Amino acid sequence: MAKGKATAFFCKECGYESAKWMGQCPACREWNTMVEEPTAKGSSARRTVRDPESRNVKPVKLSEVSVREQDRVSTGYQELDRVLGSGIVAGSLVLVGGDPGIGKSTLLLQVCRNLGRDGHRVLYISGEESLRQIKLRANRIGEISGELFFLCETSLDDIEEAIREMKPEIVIIDSIQTMYREDITSAPGSVSQVRESTNILMQIAKGMGITVFIIGHVTKEGVVAGPRVLEHMVDTVLYFEGERNASYRILRGVKNRFGSTNEIGVFEMQEQGLVEVENPSEYLLSGRPEEASGAVVACSIEGTRPILLEVQALLAQTNYGMPRRTAAGTDYNRVNLLMAVLEKRCHYEMSRYDAYVNIAGGVRMNEPALDLAIVMALVSSMKDRAVNPKTIIFGEVGLSGEIRAVSMAEQRVNEAAKLGFEVCILPKVCLDKIKRTDRITLRGVSNIREAIGLI
Ligand code: TYD
Ligand code: MG
Repeated sequence: MAKGKATAFFCKECGYESAKWMGQCPACREWNTMVEEPTAKGSSARRTVRDPESRNVKPVKLSEVSVREQDRVSTGYQELDRVLGSGIVAGSLVLVGGDPGIGKSTLLLQVCRNLGRDGHRVLYISGEESLRQIKLRANRIGEISGELFFLCETSLDDIEEAIREMKPEIVIIDSIQTMYREDITSAPGSVSQVRESTNILMQIAKGMGITVFIIGHVTKEGVVAGPRVLEHMVDTVLYFEGERNASYRILRGVKNRFGSTNEIGVFEMQEQGLVEVENPSEYLLSGRPEEASGAVVACSIEGTRPILLEVQALLAQTNYGMPRRTAAGTDYNRVNLLMAVLEKRCHYEMSRYDAYVNIAGGVRMNEPALDLAIVMALVSSMKDRAVNPKTIIFGEVGLSGEIRAVSMAEQRVNEAAKLGFEVCILPKVCLDKIKRTDRITLRGVSNIREAIGLI
């Protein structure tokens, strides 16, 4: 390679940089993700991030830094505010990632509408859609008013100028993968463009106290860099997930410098855009088959909220030497482990069955408290005997078949009682932490055999 034209190889999944090509990225272990790109020169990273008020290089005491409470702004959606940690923090950089077509643009346009209605100055920059297309979408989600401005632009230098001129409070960048800087020679969407663009946006956010929302597409193939490349640069990372053919969407916090992660927000995609789902349990359990074997209701805690969901299992005689196992919405290895526990501790011949485990509704839950429900669903399917539909089950299963305590048992029981469940099977050790109510019968169990005996 000629001098002055320095290139390097970047992983388009995680941004790992290497001098030579590799088949597998050593950082994120993905295969075939390294692409050659010019390295950025005269990088913007050398410009440091400073507060607008402190233009000097003098260290200060934290006690001298003033924080105003009104720095948090509500988005108009409780579900989103909760994931952000009770509202938007002024000057923060928020990444919203998700598959194409999941509803990221719709969500942020609706947030803009709410913010504009509350009198905030908002600038929505789209590099993907024309003003006409945005208008068409806006017509679907209802009236848009207030200090809400739109710009179709992909050059970050022009965008920076527009922001400096307009001085908005909130900026939306619709898809970081379409933005580019002229002084970097690689194509928009490449790792170095995405990184450098985010760098500029970070300086705008921190330097001018503007909140910037960045939309990033999660891509499986192609040369477009994924949002994981910039996760470490932003303050908050949210992922918008859901099945394309199911109408609800889950907004999940993955990183948050200003609040707790693991909170989720639930939305439903309707004709007029996204609508908040305030009671996800009711939603996830709707359409549940009663008296079907292999279906068990469990309670998972997401952040601070208990959510009821249905665990389904199907066991079928296998025709192969090696039985098939699949797990949708939960951890595959965990299911294998639970089946091994069943085999060893209860002497069920699991190797005779293909097993399919599914969390209904297309959600992903990985809490250990679901273990007992998965085990019960497996047993129920194997014996082809339905579990009483008014029963809810939760508890962690250990390797010797013991049922271990789970956190926030009382909240789980209360949520179940609220939704009309009559029996709750839970770890025995959790019993004395719960105030008894006559709304729901509590059955404490200490190992899986006891639990199986109860149903
Ligand atoms: P969009 O926000 O464009 O997705 P992204 O920006 O994440 O790529 O969402 C597009 C999908 O949402 C599309 O499949 C149509 C659907 N949709 C509705 O069902 N109702 C609506 O009111 C809107 C605006 C979109
Ligand atoms: Mg979009």
